Amino acid sequence: MSYATPSTPLRLSDLLEGQTANHIILAADELGWWKQLLGDAREIVPTTGLQRSLAVALHRIGWFEPTETGYRLTEPGREIAFNRGFIRVTTLGWEPTFRALATDSATADMIPAKTRPAEVACGCTDIAHRHPETIKSIAARIAADPAPGTTIDLGCADGGRMQVIGELAPSEQLVGVDIEAGVIEAARARLAQTELAERFRLRAGSVQPGGARPEWLDAEVRADVTTALTFFLLHQLATESGGIDKVLASWMDWFPNLRRLVIGDVVRAEGERWHEQPWFAPTFEFYHEVTGVKTWAEEEYTEAFAKTGWRVVEHHDADHEVFETWILER
Ligand SMILES: C[S@@+](CC[C@H](N)C(=O)[O-])C[C@H]1O[C@@H](n2cnc3c(N)ncnc32)[C@H](O)[C@@H]1O
Repeated sequence: MSYATPSTPLRLSDLLEGQTANHIILAADELGWWKQLLGDAREIVPTTGLQRSLAVALHRIGWFEPTETGYRLTEPGREIAFNRGFIRVTTLGWEPTFRALATDSATADMIPAKTRPAEVACGCTDIAHRHPETIKSIAARIAADPAPGTTIDLGCADGGRMQVIGELAPSEQLVGVDIEAGVIEAARARLAQTELAERFRLRAGSVQPGGARPEWLDAEVRADVTTALTFFLLHQLATESGGIDKVLASWMDWFPNLRRLVIGDVVRAEGERWHEQPWFAPTFEFYHEVTGVKTWAEEEYTEAFAKTGWRVVEHHDADHEVFETWILER
C-alpha cells in the first residue's frame, strides 16, 4: 500500500465530500464490508435499501466497482479498506476532543483528551492487523526463549495483540492492562470464548509511572513479567513523566525480571505544512498539541533506549512512515 505525501493543500471538496465519505466508510465498516472485501469473499452483495445506497455511493466515489451480483474493491478502494482503522480513530475515537475545541477555545489553552475508548480500541486493532508480520516476529522471539515467561501489554485495549502472541507462543503467560475498565471488560468477555482464557490475566488500571505502585501490579505479576509491550501510548506517558527514559526506568523497577521490551509508537513527522507531511501525521500532531501531549522524534526514543541500557535487536518501520516498532533486549 502506498503512503504518498499529499502534494497540495486541502481543497474545499476534500473537506465536504471527505466528511460524507467518512460516514459512508464507517457505515460500511459496521456491516463488515471492508473486512469481507479484503478477505476471501472479495465481493459484497447489498441486501437492503440503505446498503444499496451505500454501495452506489462507494461506487460513485470510486472505491467499489460492480460485479454481476454485487460489488468488489477498486485499487483506491483497497487502500481505504486497508487503512479504515485510522478513519475510525480520528472521526469517532477522537471526536469528543475535536468537539470540545469549538466550545473551549475562548477560555482554555488546552483540552484534556476525551475519547470514545471502544472506538479507539477497535480502530487500533484494525491498524495493527494491517501488518501482521511485526507482531509475528515479536511472537517468534518470545516463543524462541529457552525459558517461557510472561508477556504484559501496557495499554492493551481489546487484547488483540496479546491474543496473536498467545497463539504463536503457546507456553507464554499473558497479562493485559488498560486504564479503561469498559475496554478490559469487553476484552475479558471476548477472550473467555477462546482457548487462551486460562493463560490470560486482564487488569484495569493505569500504567503511568509516578507515586505509589499501582494496585493492579501485585507481587505475582511483578515477579512473572519477562517481556513488556506497549503500543501507541508511550508518547503520552512520557509527556506526563517528563521523558521516555523516565517511563522506561520506572517499568524496569516495576518488573525486576524484564529481559525484553517492545515499543511501538508514532514518531514526529518531517514537514512544516500539513501537505508536506505524510497523511495522518497532521491529525496526530494537532490532536496531541491541543491535548498538551508531546510527540517525540525517532532519535528521542533511541537515545532513551541507550540511556536505560537497552539494545535494539529488531526495528520495524515498513508499516507507515511515522510508525516505528523496536524490539529491545538487555
Ligand atoms: C491509542 S490506544 C492503543 C491501544 C493498543 N495498545 C494498540 O496499539 O492497539 C491507547 C490505549 O492506552 C490506554 N491508556 C491510556 N492511558 C493509559 C494509562 N495511563 N494506563 C493504561 N492504559 C492507558 C487507552 O485506554 C487505549 O486503550
